[in-house]
Amino acid sequence: MTNKPPRTIGSFPSTRMRRNRGDDFSRRMVAENKLSADDLIWPVFVIEGNNTREEISSMPGVSRLSIDLLVEAVGDAADLGIPAVAVFPYTDPSLKTPDAKEALNPDNLVCRAVSAVKKAHSDIGIVCDVALDPYNSDGHDGLVRDGIILNDETLEVLCKQSLVQAAAGCDIVAPSDMMDGRVAAIRKALDEGGYEHVRIMSYAAKYASAFYGPFRDAVGSGGALKGDKKTYQMNPANSDEALREVAMDIAEGADLVMVKPGMPYLDIIRRVKDAFGMPTFAYQVSGEYAMLKAAAGNGWLDNDKVVLESLIAFKRAGADGILTYLAPEAARLLKS
Ligand code: PBG
Repeated sequence: MTNKPPRTIGSFPSTRMRRNRGDDFSRRMVAENKLSADDLIWPVFVIEGNNTREEISSMPGVSRLSIDLLVEAVGDAADLGIPAVAVFPYTDPSLKTPDAKEALNPDNLVCRAVSAVKKAHSDIGIVCDVALDPYNSDGHDGLVRDGIILNDETLEVLCKQSLVQAAAGCDIVAPSDMMDGRVAAIRKALDEGGYEHVRIMSYAAKYASAFYGPFRDAVGSGGALKGDKKTYQMNPANSDEALREVAMDIAEGADLVMVKPGMPYLDIIRRVKDAFGMPTFAYQVSGEYAMLKAAAGNGWLDNDKVVLESLIAFKRAGADGILTYLAPEAARLLKS
């Protein structure tokens, strides 16, 4: 909530706002927010193969990694103090079906990646997306029948997908599908499966955004996608509705909530944090990363400065943490 400045404030010349800005020590002393590696969750893309690295052209500096390289990269991230990674699979198109059954394969790519990472680095948290889009031949997050994205039928599959991920060693399942009722259904399934310790980070206020474009290249779901996601993801025009989404997910058992995309939705982060005081996360999405890197790559913006400025903005807006492709880079900058 924005408070009005108190009436007791002095005026120029007795009050000079610039005094506290005059030196590095006092700027640091009065800083209201601080960014640290602890605030960063690093989303990563995994592919089949060995010693394989594939660049993603719409995300300069980001690659899909085979499991062996991913394990190394996650080790570096852990050394930088990054507390968690979010693992996204690039699924071979031949495995995509209308029932998205590869999502339930306990030996699928993301499950193998999770258990390999967990085995090598037991101290870093692992987040997995719960949604069918990497596995669905229609590219949608839910099951599709006659062009309709089915809600309740999808929930059953999402529950099974969560169980498979939990069994692989995932610490936090992150439903990104925006089906109604999924948090409650997944919580129940996890508890009944003996995974009451597995946390749920819900993509609670997730907007139907064009900023996801590069991500869909990265996981190979963009080409498959028929139509758009507007019947389940939120309308960018809405803000009260975000609070209702978040309230529902909290009531259903979400441990952590997320607002996505990030920078164009800082107002939503602030409202969510003020309304609920929950651990609140922002996702600085692929398109935001692409914009920043495109401008920096052309020499139009100072890369290091905009990286840190974009991230502190999330903290100021009330986020407790940020999912960002910039995580290792930012953690390195914070160290230097
Ligand atoms: C899929 C999913 C998406 C993202 C995270 N999980 C894309 C989508 O909903 O189409 C976007 C992440 C990004 O753009 O960085 N359910």
